[in-house]
Amino acid sequence: MTSRPIHVRNAWHVAGWAMDLAPETPFAITIAGTPVVVWRSAGGGVRALEDRCVHRLAPLSRGRCEGEALRCMYHGFVFGGDGVVTEIPGQTRIPVQARVRAFPVVERHSWLWIWPGDPALADPALIPPAVGFDHPDYILGRGQLDYAASAGLIHDNLCDFTHLSFVHSASFGANEEWARTRPKVTMLPRGIRFERWVRAQSGMRSRQEPVDVWSSYDYHVPGVLLMPSASYPVGTADRLGDAPPPPDLPATGVTFTSQAVTALTDHTSRYFFSWGPHRDHGDEALRDMLMGIAAQAFAEDKAMIEAQQAVIDRDPACQPMPADFDKGVVLYNRLVARLAREEGQGA
Ligand code: FES
Ligand SMILES: [Fe+2]
Repeated sequence: MTSRPIHVRNAWHVAGWAMDLAPETPFAITIAGTPVVVWRSAGGGVRALEDRCVHRLAPLSRGRCEGEALRCMYHGFVFGGDGVVTEIPGQTRIPVQARVRAFPVVERHSWLWIWPGDPALADPALIPPAVGFDHPDYILGRGQLDYAASAGLIHDNLCDFTHLSFVHSASFGANEEWARTRPKVTMLPRGIRFERWVRAQSGMRSRQEPVDVWSSYDYHVPGVLLMPSASYPVGTADRLGDAPPPPDLPATGVTFTSQAVTALTDHTSRYFFSWGPHRDHGDEALRDMLMGIAAQAFAEDKAMIEAQQAVIDRDPACQPMPADFDKGVVLYNRLVARLAREEGQGA
C-alpha cells in the first residue's frame, strides 16, 4: 500500500544470519528506522544496542569489543551489553543518563532476531518457527538481497502468489493456475495462512514432469514467510476434492523455504531466504539447483518491486485498486495497522 509505511515494532525482526556473525566484529543495521549495533561477545552471546554513543553520538558499530563490553572508538566510553556506560576515560563519576537503549536479541533457527519495541513484551515464544540450518530434516541453501523499496511492497508481494504466473513463469515455471485459482486465506493471531492446490505445475526436479502442488504457507509479522511445499502426481488434487493431503500420502517432492523481510528505513529493506529439499526427497545437488532458481526468481521480484516503488514515488498520493485476489494483502495490511495502533502508533 502506498501510504507512509507502518512498522510493527513489538515483533521479532531478522537482523542477519547467525553464522555470519563473527565474534567481536560489530555490525550496523537499521531496523524500522532505528540504528542498531549487533555483536557477538568473546563469550559467544549476542548483544544489540542503539548504534549511537551517548557522548557525542558517534556510531558504536565503529567500536571495539572488550570481553562482554563494547568501547566507543571515538573517545573511549565503554558500554555493557545492557547499554549502561561502565567507564569514561579519566573520569570516576558516571552520570545516570550515561546509557543507550539495549534491544532484546535471540539467536534461533540460524537467524538473529531483534525486538525494536517495548522490551517488556519481548517474548521469545513469538519467534516464528522458521527452519534453520540446525534442522535435521532439510538440506538448505541461503541468501539475502537488499531492496530499494518499502518492506510493505514486499509484504504485498509475498501475500499474493498471483504474481507467480507472470513474474516467475521462467524461473519457477509457474503456470496460470497461480493467477486463476484462489488460496484459502485464514487469519492467525499474528499472521495470515494461505492454502491451496495448484494443478499440473512443471516439477522442480524434472521440468518435463508436471505435478500437483500443495502450497501452504504462513506469513507472520513483521514479514516472515514459512512455506513447506509438497508435490504429488497429477490428479491428486482432483482425487482429494481440494482437501489438504493427508500426512501419510506419499509425496514426489518436499521442500521448505523460510523468508524474512526486514524494514531498514521507510524505503529500504533487506530480504533473507533459505530453501532446500527434505532429506527423503533430495540432496545437495537438488539444493543447489533450487538455489539457482531462487536467485533468478528473487531477482525477478526485486526488479518489479523496485520499479513499482519508483512509480509510486513519482506520485505518492495515487492509491492502488485492490482485486479479489488481494484478500491476503488486505488482511495482512489490516493486521499490521491494528498491531501498530495497539502500540500507540496512531496508524
Ligand atoms: S562519541 Fe563515543 S566516546 Fe565520544
Ligand atoms: Fe515472487
